[in-house]
Amino acid sequence: MSRVSIPRLIEKREKREPIVMVTAYDYPAARAVERAGVDMVLVGDSGAQVLLGYASTVEVSVEEMLMMSKAVRRGTESAFMVSDLPFGSTEESDVQAVQTAVRFVREAGVDAVKLEGANESRLSRIRAIVAAGIPVVGHIGLTPQTATALGGLRAQGRTIESAERLVGEGLAVQAAGAFCLVIEAVPSEVVDVLREALTIPIIGIGAGKADGQVLVLHDLLGITEGKTAKFVKTFGTIGDDTVAAIAAYADEVRAGSFPAPEHQYPVTPEAVEAARA
Ligand code: KIV
Ligand code: NA
Repeated sequence: MSRVSIPRLIEKREKREPIVMVTAYDYPAARAVERAGVDMVLVGDSGAQVLLGYASTVEVSVEEMLMMSKAVRRGTESAFMVSDLPFGSTEESDVQAVQTAVRFVREAGVDAVKLEGANESRLSRIRAIVAAGIPVVGHIGLTPQTATALGGLRAQGRTIESAERLVGEGLAVQAAGAFCLVIEAVPSEVVDVLREALTIPIIGIGAGKADGQVLVLHDLLGITEGKTAKFVKTFGTIGDDTVAAIAAYADEVRAGSFPAPEHQYPVTPEAVEAARA
């Protein structure tokens, strides 16, 4: 199957065919995502928490994101693959941002990179990376890398000022050259305004029915422990299934019922006799 392309994603937006995006951080997840036939796969910096156990996304490094991205690349054929540029890898200058983005293309073969935020320096980074020939996905609303400055992991665009700011940010990210925009934790009415104002596809998470949806894989599979965000729907019970499978294995080992004869290699009595001698 041929790779989903940017023109195909634009066409989907125009035809009002919802775009499906999901995160993945390793090879088996990429294979599963591929087999399920999604349009876009995101190696999110949410891997900081759900894969590596860090407390927040800001702790994940470029090297760690590259390792995840390379594994996902090996398992992905048809989905359009995007990787998050992690906190600290684009903040210093446009040059630093382009160098980081180039590494993701050369070393991990990503189709595009994703960058959070829409202030002047963020817009400058988007322009620089796009000018280098690398497609960029923007990300506005709740931007976890700078959540402290937003006052925590909270919904955005709920006041007049915030809603107006978001629309301005969406327009600015599009004007800077992003071909697609992720919007996180924003009321759907504000997203509707953005969908009318913009021509690029908007992928929502906690943002109502946008042009597409994205979810964190571990959230949708039911692997994430504890409380998840309001916008998460759990479609599987893989966390509990995994615990149950490991516990069943432990039980059988302790009861002596595993391994059974069929899990063992046959040998001739002569070989055993020789081993004994
Ligand atoms: O890192 C991530 O998983 C993301 C999505 C939630 C959009 O950025
Ligand atoms: Na992210």
